[in-house]
Amino acid sequence: MVLGPSMVFLLILVLFCFTNEVSSEKELLSLKKHQWGVEGDSRSCFSPYSRTQNGATILEMKHRDSCSGPKTNTNQKLENRLISDDIRVKSIQSQIKNILSSQQESPSQTQIPINSGIKLQTLNYIVSITLGGRNLTVIVDTGSDLTWVQCQPCKLCYTQPEPLFNPLISPSYQSIQCSSPACHSLQFATGNLGFCEKDVPTCNYVVTYGDGSYTRGELGRDGLVLGTNKVENFIFGCGYNNKGLFGSASGLMGLGRSDLSLISQTYDMFGGVFSYCLPDSDSASGSSGSLILGNDTSVFKNTTPISYTRLVQSPQLYSFYILNLTGISIGGVDLNSPNFDKNGVLIDSGTVITRVKPSIYAAIKAEFLKQFSGYPPAPSFSILDTCFNLSGYDEVSIPTVRMQFEGDAEMSVDVSGMFYFVKRDASQVCLALASLSYEDDIGIIGNYQQKNVRVVYDTKEMRLGFAKEICNFN
Ligand SMILES: *[C@@H]1O[C@H](CO)[C@@H](O)[C@H](O)[C@H]1NC(C)=O
Ligand SMILES: *[C@@H]1O[C@H](CO)[C@@H](O)[C@H](O)[C@H]1NC(C)=O
Ligand SMILES: *[C@@H]1O[C@H](CO)[C@@H](O)[C@H](O)[C@H]1NC(C)=O
Ligand SMILES: *[C@@H]1O[C@H](CO)[C@@H](O)[C@H](O)[C@H]1NC(C)=O
Repeated sequence: MVLGPSMVFLLILVLFCFTNEVSSEKELLSLKKHQWGVEGDSRSCFSPYSRTQNGATILEMKHRDSCSGPKTNTNQKLENRLISDDIRVKSIQSQIKNILSSQQESPSQTQIPINSGIKLQTLNYIVSITLGGRNLTVIVDTGSDLTWVQCQPCKLCYTQPEPLFNPLISPSYQSIQCSSPACHSLQFATGNLGFCEKDVPTCNYVVTYGDGSYTRGELGRDGLVLGTNKVENFIFGCGYNNKGLFGSASGLMGLGRSDLSLISQTYDMFGGVFSYCLPDSDSASGSSGSLILGNDTSVFKNTTPISYTRLVQSPQLYSFYILNLTGISIGGVDLNSPNFDKNGVLIDSGTVITRVKPSIYAAIKAEFLKQFSGYPPAPSFSILDTCFNLSGYDEVSIPTVRMQFEGDAEMSVDVSGMFYFVKRDASQVCLALASLSYEDDIGIIGNYQQKNVRVVYDTKEMRLGFAKEICNFN
């Protein structure tokens, strides 16, 4: 029998789909790439780029580590990073429990949101904005609302390489008055009331953080430029007194959901939609990702369709983005756990390592070890307890982890988000997932597992989408 060209094509297509299907449940990880991983390129660290395309504003997004210069004592740094990640997760858990229990005792407390600042511990990604004519590099946080920058005259400021924002030399800067609605919105946005000193009508804010970090100052407004889009009268915190783990960024961009967040303030311009693609910071290419403001999905470079799931509404946990996790598969094998859809999971740009309930973690670990077998074990590291010595291998094939959400949405964890390299020579490489302390803790999808994924936050349609994308600004 002679096959016609279309038959041959069909056959190839079938074979291709078949092999693709099988291999898609495992992905190759090159270990050499990590061993030779270069340090950040300090030239391109600050002042990330931006551009506008079809009405969407695209900001280059970089990992903060690419700014931190030569790495001394990498192991200590890696360990500290996980310790502070753990502090962040524990404070999120305790805040949530406080809120939920105080709500039962006194229903009048329901409107008091979580002090969003607690989520600041390990924020990692930075973008550049122009505020009052000044270019400023700020940390991106989906878990808090108020955007702020360090401001002159400083009572206490940490060191930043960029000049401090000076409201006196920006003709368009205005202080916000105590009587203004924006001052009243502070309670919802920061957990603290706006306050005024005697005889001074300007509204002061304070955001305090679980670890003792804080920013204080006055609430002001000025012109904000994002890419080429100008936002008049953008409300932000002009911080005179700032202390904490903000690296050397000039401030912070709040992408939460309350009235004062950047997303709410730019609603008319961007339709309440933003998305990001977090680059693989460990890769030798020193890559960058993007933060895209706007609802035009045609500017994304996703390679799979966006699958959306509902954002779960919780009046008490208003400032969090919460999803309904319905399942997890490892290398194509679905885990059985009745506990997936109990009280949802948070998706957070600031937590590093994804945390799941102890019972779910146990199931993941068992299935992962079954499929990723034969590799020499290595000691646990901090919160990570599934570790291997892979220094004898050039590459390994890792079972793919997929998280499933209500509405048939799925996030496939990129191979770059599967292992945490404790040692650069790969002699201690750990599965980058960890267990929560208690079964009733709330799961958190951390940024390590969100690398090379386009994550779309649609506050208008109240949904969140995932698609595969190799993150790149260009
Ligand atoms: C701010 O950044 C833009 C774009 O990178 C650049 O064209 C401009 O000159 C910068 N402005 C200042 C005041 O540095
Ligand atoms: C996208 O955002 C623009 C600007 O706010 C708005 O006019 C438009 O209706 C939005 N489109 C969709 C599909 O939501
Ligand atoms: C890791 O494995 C390599 C060979 O595969 C071995 O030479 C080395 O000693 C091991 N390292 C540790 C820390 O166990
Ligand atoms: C989560 O989704 C599942 C499946 O659609 C549904 O049965 C469950 O009620 C949802 N849970 C919540 C908390 O909405």
